[in-house]
Amino acid sequence: MQTAAVSTSAPPARLEEIFRVAYGGLPHLCAQAPGRVNLIGEHTDYNDGFVLPCAIGFRTWVAARARTDTQVRVVAADFDAQQDVFELTAPIAKHPAFGWANYVRGVVHEMRRHVDLPHGINLAIAGDVPRGAGLSSSASLEVALAQALKQAYGLEDLCGSDLAGIAQRAENDFVGCNCGIMDQMVSACAIASHAMLLDCRSLQTRAVPMDPGLGVVVVHSGVNRGLVDSAYNARRAQCESAAQALGVVALRDADPAMLERAGDALDPVVLRRARHVISENVRTVEAAECLWRGDVRGLGRRMQASHCSMRDDFEITVPAIDQLVMIAEEAIAGEGGARMTGGGFGGCVVAVLPRARIPRLCESIDRHYRSPMGKQATIHVCEAVHGAGPC
Ligand code: GLA
Repeated sequence: MQTAAVSTSAPPARLEEIFRVAYGGLPHLCAQAPGRVNLIGEHTDYNDGFVLPCAIGFRTWVAARARTDTQVRVVAADFDAQQDVFELTAPIAKHPAFGWANYVRGVVHEMRRHVDLPHGINLAIAGDVPRGAGLSSSASLEVALAQALKQAYGLEDLCGSDLAGIAQRAENDFVGCNCGIMDQMVSACAIASHAMLLDCRSLQTRAVPMDPGLGVVVVHSGVNRGLVDSAYNARRAQCESAAQALGVVALRDADPAMLERAGDALDPVVLRRARHVISENVRTVEAAECLWRGDVRGLGRRMQASHCSMRDDFEITVPAIDQLVMIAEEAIAGEGGARMTGGGFGGCVVAVLPRARIPRLCESIDRHYRSPMGKQATIHVCEAVHGAGPC
């Protein structure tokens, strides 16, 4: 069985090392932001709905030191020490080659629209959020950068949701993925030992305590999420056309009766997409109540229904993930739940269950699951950690 350790919040030694090699001397500050796992509420955020994620102990760290000129210099420890350089005094364009650099450029660009960045900065980045796993490595990078800039430029007025908004716009406008606000909000604002019920319209949050007897297990299927931005953007467009057809601002405002009344007037695919979002919103609020009350069976039923809805109506699961969820559900035997987590098309399954049942879950996955490439799943037993901050 492959189980992987989840990091502490201390920055890895390679961060300081790569900073020293790139710039000479030590950084003056360090910021971190975690990845996340979503317990329930998938593809509801950009429909102004509800989500229930928690931050987990995989992180991105950014080390920084002010420059006396107006250049931004960045080195990426996890991309062969690739470097990027751009000017704060000129328009910031996309990087012609490095995907990772566009997250940096996007965040600096967005930050600069809000506040004055009077001098340049040297940055080094390292992280351990698995990429392509649906655990929000991108949001963790964006929010860690925004947090580092906040510290470096003394922007104390910017609160967590401001940083999340800057990070999201960087991804929407600069990277080109029309993601919602969930990942950035939980990375910026999570509270340790709690899940976050987030109303994605008002950005109101409610911290839902995680019973210490419950474990959150994240299982990587070994199927990486490929080039999924286009499928994601297509789902979003279908949801928007459903809202328009139903005459509501967003699917958050629709209910099953409206959907039934619209009936044949809706394209059948669009109808299924809308049915997922409308039912998922209800399940998410109910699941938060279950978690609050310690009703793990009730939570499990909502997670199971969520997975079926993602599989049949939103059509974002893949066969290996469906199989992994079935194996997990059998081992959990109703004392919790399992479902695919994140944007879809591969990545991870999340399970919530009594800690005492975790060994049985691990054994069962070990015995019965192989990815299409014959790989075993990687299992992470996670804790709900705090959001972004200095490190
Ligand atoms: C990705 C996006 C989020 C959200 C999820 C699906 O993680 O970044 O905004 O839409 O997919 O729930």
